[in-house]
Amino acid sequence: MLILSIQHVTNKMQLAKNIYSADGNTLLAAGTRLTDGFIAKLLHFGVSTVYISDKYTGKIEVDELVKTQTKNDATRITKEVMDHIRENKTWNGEEIQPVIASIIEELLLNHDILYNLVEIRAMNDYHYAHNVAVCILSLMTGIALNYNYQKLKHLGTGALLHDIGKAKISFKILNKNGSLTQEEYAEIKKHPQFGYDILKQCDSISEEASYIAWQHHEKFDGTGYPMGLKGTDIYESARIVALADVYDAMSTDRVYRKRFLSQEVIEYIRDQGETQFDPELSKVFLENIAPFPIGSMVLLNTGEKGIVINVPRDFPARPVIKIIFDHAGLYFKKSVEKDLKKDLTLFITKALKDDEIDAIG
Ligand SMILES: [Fe+2]
Repeated sequence: MLILSIQHVTNKMQLAKNIYSADGNTLLAAGTRLTDGFIAKLLHFGVSTVYISDKYTGKIEVDELVKTQTKNDATRITKEVMDHIRENKTWNGEEIQPVIASIIEELLLNHDILYNLVEIRAMNDYHYAHNVAVCILSLMTGIALNYNYQKLKHLGTGALLHDIGKAKISFKILNKNGSLTQEEYAEIKKHPQFGYDILKQCDSISEEASYIAWQHHEKFDGTGYPMGLKGTDIYESARIVALADVYDAMSTDRVYRKRFLSQEVIEYIRDQGETQFDPELSKVFLENIAPFPIGSMVLLNTGEKGIVINVPRDFPARPVIKIIFDHAGLYFKKSVEKDLKKDLTLFITKALKDDEIDAIG
């Protein structure tokens, strides 16, 4: 199984994982042999990265942190809530509680699993699925910080609804492909305040959750918005959601740019310690993230290239690699796995971007 950009996908390649739309429907199922028609369909839905089964690595099971069904439910409910607010209907926040409880429950059961998947999603549905990923990443951090159940509920709710204020901003601005005018950007920057105003009126939403919506664009050094709060004047849970928000946004393909690799986003967050983010929280946050997620193609110091097939929880930078190309770029005829945790002479030089991966199928 390999993560591949849709531009590099060719006829007859086989999908390794299901692809879902925002309402939880399967766009294409795992096992589907791709045709020009299917590839066109994926492009139409804004899917630009897929998991492909390849003959070299075979089937790799990835432990799921949160069940696909739960994620799909959360995505659908978030979309319904945003639609509701857009239509100016009253909403008290109750509907989202069961799905937040399910996500917390599943994460507590799976606390030994790393955030190890590149999320494949239709760009057309970016905003809804993004909220769910931010919720999961924030809760993983809260669990690592030993938050009690009540605090996790506030954090999960605020994280899932952190961008709810965008329901008050026109689709014309939100979905604009080109760069925003100054006025449009000023309008987008109102969404934290709008979000706070919406959530504080909901009986079932805690004050802490509404503060997350209000403060998730504040930066640790005081250069954020809307209030320019600094350091610990920003709610801790909002500082966590700020990390999750940036990590997921950078890891995802957007209309105007390709996704950054996990390792690149990790380096960005490390570099931003003490400016954009709380350095202590950044450390805790990054401990849950695999720098080389399963399915990534990597280059070793020997010049060999291979696919990550397993990532140890205790040493995520030293995964098990299935070698695909030797140092001269030739296909390996036999199956060779290298466990970097055992062979300390080996290390990963870099993760390869889609356009650096040689033809494979
Ligand atoms: Fe936001």
